Amino acid sequence: MKSVVFFCFFILFLPSRILLAEINNSNLSQFSIDTHPKNWKNDQILAILKKGKIISIRPMKEHLESCGKKVEFDGEVYLVELDNGHKAVFKTFPPRHMADAYAEVAAYEASRVLGFPHIPPTVMTTLKDQKGSLQLFVETDVDSLVPDLYEAALKNVSADDMANLKLFYFVFGQWDTGPHNTLILKDKTQNYLIAIDNSAICNPQYVRYGELPFVQLYYSDRLQTNDDDKPFPFDQAEIIKKPTTQKIRKIFGHKLPEDFYQQIKFYGPTFRYVIYRNALWKQFHAGDEDFVLSFTDYLPEQTRKSLEGLNLAVLKRIFACAKGEAFLTPGYLQTILDRRDQVLTYFKRKALS
Ligand SMILES: Nc1ncnc2c1ncn2[C@@H]1O[C@H](COP(=O)(O)OP(=O)(O)O)[C@@H](O)[C@H]1O
Ligand SMILES: [Mg+2]
Repeated sequence: MKSVVFFCFFILFLPSRILLAEINNSNLSQFSIDTHPKNWKNDQILAILKKGKIISIRPMKEHLESCGKKVEFDGEVYLVELDNGHKAVFKTFPPRHMADAYAEVAAYEASRVLGFPHIPPTVMTTLKDQKGSLQLFVETDVDSLVPDLYEAALKNVSADDMANLKLFYFVFGQWDTGPHNTLILKDKTQNYLIAIDNSAICNPQYVRYGELPFVQLYYSDRLQTNDDDKPFPFDQAEIIKKPTTQKIRKIFGHKLPEDFYQQIKFYGPTFRYVIYRNALWKQFHAGDEDFVLSFTDYLPEQTRKSLEGLNLAVLKRIFACAKGEAFLTPGYLQTILDRRDQVLTYFKRKALS
């Protein structure tokens, strides 16, 4: 009898023990798992990213060009081949911009908690003495930067996925959106929208649901706005047509340091901005009629429940990796909850009308 019990115990627990041994062992070469988006909550993928041996690292630009794909990014991004047959994307940043890497990880953590959108598993790592984020590479044959291919592939994305992506972008403050930061994975029955490059969620911003956000571009004590007690002046935004450094310098002069004029590039037909709390806030994409707003009129029921479940304690867990980073203030977390409240209020009012 004893031996039968032992045998059952052995059979029941053996596979998971082997799995653990494999994950704990840094040699992951025989260990391969399903990396379909439905499986992205699986901790084993994180283990693969953290412990897989690096076989090769090459610039992402080189890889995209070798597949005949368009290139539209300017960060330090590398395609990494791991010994378990998986690939990953390594993004490294100058030390003063390391918040961007933590934000990538936090965005993935948020997607795990909420259950949306599809963000590839992401961890912090150090490769060749350089710190950064490492994200599961998603193989896709759709080039998002070819408008016809992108638009055609979007038609087979579910209404829930489409709404969820926009709601995530709005609530978590991802303003750097569009085809350049979206992958489309074709599947048998539907296409998946994959949100990559979520580092911009660490930028402070003010926004009203249904409008473009004002993102903090530059902070300077010299601005002396003395308006801490006032709400954000959405309706007092200024516009500069065809902005150039010269035009901006004419307006702000010594109120902004030389450093600012050297660093910031001005582009596009319109520069729409607000000066508030000693900072310059830019409304990116203002005047761009083709830009797709992070707004939806459809709130899936499960999404409503997930959003209702957000609170300060949950957000602290989501952003645990970024503890100690300057952007992670109680005020920053509160703005996420405020945007969540805006969404829920919008849909409550809609239901009543
Ligand atoms: N997880 C991923 N899977 C597949 N390709 C990716 C992934 N992340 C990034 N890429 C590719 O690398 C490019 C640059 O990455 P991105 O995160 O947008 O960098 P940047 O911050 O410089 O804009 C993307 O346009 C895309 O082609
Ligand atoms: Mg990008």
